[in-house]
Amino acid sequence: MTTLAFMKNSLGFLHRVFRQGRSQWSLALVGFVLAAASCGGGEGGDGGAKTAAVSDSIYVEESPWRGWNKYQIKLEDTLARYGRELIEHTSRYLGPKGTVAAISNGMNCQNCHLDGGTIPWGNNYSAVVSTYPKFRDRSGSVETIPKRVNDCFERSLNGKALDTASREMKAILAYMHWLGDDIPKGKKPKGSGIMELPFMDRAADPAAGKAVYMAKCQVCHGPDGQGQKSADGYEYTYPPLWGEHSYNSGAGLFRITRFAGYVKASMPFGLADHKNPQLSDAEAWDVAAFVNSQPRPKKDLSGDWPDISKKPLDHPFGPYADGFTENQHKYGPFGPIEKARKEKSRK
Ligand code: HEC
Ligand code: HEC
Repeated sequence: MTTLAFMKNSLGFLHRVFRQGRSQWSLALVGFVLAAASCGGGEGGDGGAKTAAVSDSIYVEESPWRGWNKYQIKLEDTLARYGRELIEHTSRYLGPKGTVAAISNGMNCQNCHLDGGTIPWGNNYSAVVSTYPKFRDRSGSVETIPKRVNDCFERSLNGKALDTASREMKAILAYMHWLGDDIPKGKKPKGSGIMELPFMDRAADPAAGKAVYMAKCQVCHGPDGQGQKSADGYEYTYPPLWGEHSYNSGAGLFRITRFAGYVKASMPFGLADHKNPQLSDAEAWDVAAFVNSQPRPKKDLSGDWPDISKKPLDHPFGPYADGFTENQHKYGPFGPIEKARKEKSRK
């Protein structure tokens, strides 16, 4: 290995370990390594750490939140470690062949909450501990973290709720606390959750989305959207996007604003991040419309949105408090719906 290659590798490692600069000395150390790297004239080991000047912007207040590296969980904190493991490899423990229980569809939480829920706009968990318990309009009640976790089990993983007294739920909670404990109560760090894309003037178009899918997605998720299982069959190498093993009709991603915002910042996996999107906004909306037009498991949603006027613009199922059709609520254009809502609230 050349000196430069070695430096690049160690820089990449340090950047990952210390990317948030949890303490002064780690900041100083990163600064030192970056300075050394830029003297060597090389580019940084991974994105964002290219020169000393760019490195400064990693730590300024406006930069998005990045979760701690999992290797920073204390060795003795076995509960939080197990929690992280459950987020990454949910299916090995709780999927169809799960070693603890078979209560979910084979997907992992991490399939949608990237890198254990630590990536800017990768549907991260930064705002979980700081904002829950909170009132949510979908259920019309105050929800705790375990309730919200079980929402994803029952919808995104098309499964059953995890017993709130189980070691698994306690572990997921411990991990969430480890991740978000230093975020002030009530604060939502920049980059939390999913990106909001500006609305298009037109409806999202499933036919145009199919072309995007075939060009940019099917190589991993499969022409039939069924994904690909790992060699041992316990989880997915490429998770399914529709069909019986995918998320159900009550899941967040079944709303196209969620799907479009997620893929804009995160897909194709490994190529895209919030700084390097690989899809135009129109491509993201259209591919969302295509994928969410395909068959998937149905959930009984009769208990959702007790106050129908609180349904999000893109909630794809009526009844609605406005005169727009189910089709327009599902695919847009959303501008007119938003305008009508604003006018109504002014009256
Ligand atoms: C198919 C994709 C998908 C999978 C798999 C998934 N989730 Fe989610 N999750 C979502 C979406 C979408 C949201 C809503 C994000 C938004 O609207 O900003 C969400 C939200 C959440 C939230 C609330 C975040 C917040 O800041 O309010 C928690 C907690 C959560 N998920 C936990 C889990 C856990 C634990 C698992 C695994 C058991 C899981 N999720 C699996 C898609 C998924
Ligand atoms: C290079 C392979 C690859 C390509 C190309 C790719 N993805 Fe993914 N996708 C993945 C992987 C891997 C995951 C799961 C990430 C993880 O578990 O860490 C994923 C997860 C997802 C998820 C959330 C999980 C689920 O199954 O619902 C969605 C939605 C998604 N991809 C949509 C897309 C779309 C749309 C495109 C095309 C624009 C695309 N992907 C292109 C590899 C890919």
